[in-house]
Amino acid sequence: MSETPSALFRYNNQEFSLPIRQGSEAEQAIDISQLREKTGLITFDDGFGNTGSCQSAITYIEGEKGILRYRGYPIEQLAEHSNFVETAYLVIYGELPTQEQRSQFSALLTENAAIHERMVYLFESYPRDAHPMALLGAMVNALACYYPHLATNNHDRDIINFDDAAATLISKVRTITAMAYRMSRGLPVIYPKRGLKYCENFLHMMFSEPYDMYECPDVVARALNLILLLHADHEQNCSTATVRMVASSGANLFASAAAGICALWGPLHGGANQAVIEMLQAIHAEGDDGSRFIAAAKDGKRRLMGFGHRVYKNYDPRAKIIGKACDDLLREMGINDPLLDIARLLEQTALRDSYFVERKLYPNVDFYSGIIMRAIGIPLNMFTVMFAIGRMPGWVANWREVATVGKPKIYRPRQIYVGSQVRDYVPMEKR
Ligand SMILES: CC(C)(COP(=O)(O)OP(=O)(O)OC[C@H]1O[C@@H](n2cnc3c(N)ncnc32)[C@H](O)[C@@H]1OP(=O)(O)O)[C@@H](O)C(=O)NCCC(=O)NCCS
Repeated sequence: MSETPSALFRYNNQEFSLPIRQGSEAEQAIDISQLREKTGLITFDDGFGNTGSCQSAITYIEGEKGILRYRGYPIEQLAEHSNFVETAYLVIYGELPTQEQRSQFSALLTENAAIHERMVYLFESYPRDAHPMALLGAMVNALACYYPHLATNNHDRDIINFDDAAATLISKVRTITAMAYRMSRGLPVIYPKRGLKYCENFLHMMFSEPYDMYECPDVVARALNLILLLHADHEQNCSTATVRMVASSGANLFASAAAGICALWGPLHGGANQAVIEMLQAIHAEGDDGSRFIAAAKDGKRRLMGFGHRVYKNYDPRAKIIGKACDDLLREMGINDPLLDIARLLEQTALRDSYFVERKLYPNVDFYSGIIMRAIGIPLNMFTVMFAIGRMPGWVANWREVATVGKPKIYRPRQIYVGSQVRDYVPMEKR
């Protein structure tokens, strides 16, 4: 019988054996779940960079080598052969769909595309210039009010209706997004249209007029599919870990996804794609070709947005795919975007500069995705919303894992308290 691998831990003249857990790609982790019980110690890992918070079978990343796989399939193969809806199915259900499963999934998405008519009043009560991420978070959370049978806050019950809840979320998120866009501009709301594919239907709701149907060029639908597919999941990042944390309390899928949206909003996470374009626009407006900005980034005065990653210490494989797609799209659409020239120069300079090389800072997925979205006509303040649409399958799959795999354990990290020691209450007159 083979011996279970373990690590030896010595503390206070005592030795403790900690089991080693091994993943399917041979990555190893010390299981410290008994550490406090045995030794009175907890571990400290600021930012969780060294902490495995769960076991998951969805996505595999090897940051040092620039590897990303959904359910075992390399991202490069999915980008070449699949599309967003098929990849969403794969991420959520674990296998590529058969023809029949694919048709059923598409039918469910079509059936669930429209939002409850009363939600229009919700939109109307928000300020016209509300940030679309704030709106999206609010509306996705509100889905639990309009479809309460899909959000009972009892995982055993919610999982029975999981297929409907997942399709509701993935389909309605694009309707909500398009509606937010139309209403913020005082434009008539365009309803989803049966027969259109996922991305085409979204662009129809965004850009059609009651008197003029938007004709979606193939190249645009392809680019949007690619962007969404490349964002479909990314292991235990800030928003996905948030989704799992909220789900671990027993919360329903919509509440958990809404929390993910809030986490995604920040500029160090999903907000980076917007920050990249703002950075490129500022560089352009200042008449800089990028070299002054690089110098300021090295001095710590500016941050090169779209560069660096907590996990990838190599080229983000998604950035490679998206960089090429960006060139192709702009060429096919005949667009000459000066921001792309600046982005290319920043990339070439940074890849040769020792500051970036030593710190292993490479372009990430956000570096070029914004330029593609600009070309498609997506406004800047909606870039992060597009990321959220793409990431929805990953959040759904992670929620499902929490709700179904093993005995659910509420996420509850500990802390090292560094505040005041115990002291007596001081009456107001003595303060
Ligand atoms: C993504 C990110 C938050 C990862 O952070 P992290 O792994 O915690 O890395 P750190 O912030 O500890 O940075 C390590 C070093 O690289 C530097 N660095 C990291 N990202 C940098 C960037 N984009 N531009 C300039 N310097 C950067 C830091 O200043 C630090 O330098 P130091 O060691 O001299 O102090 C960070 O790289 C970043 O802010 N990137 C820009 C935002 C972005 O594109 N986010 C989207 C991620 S998909």
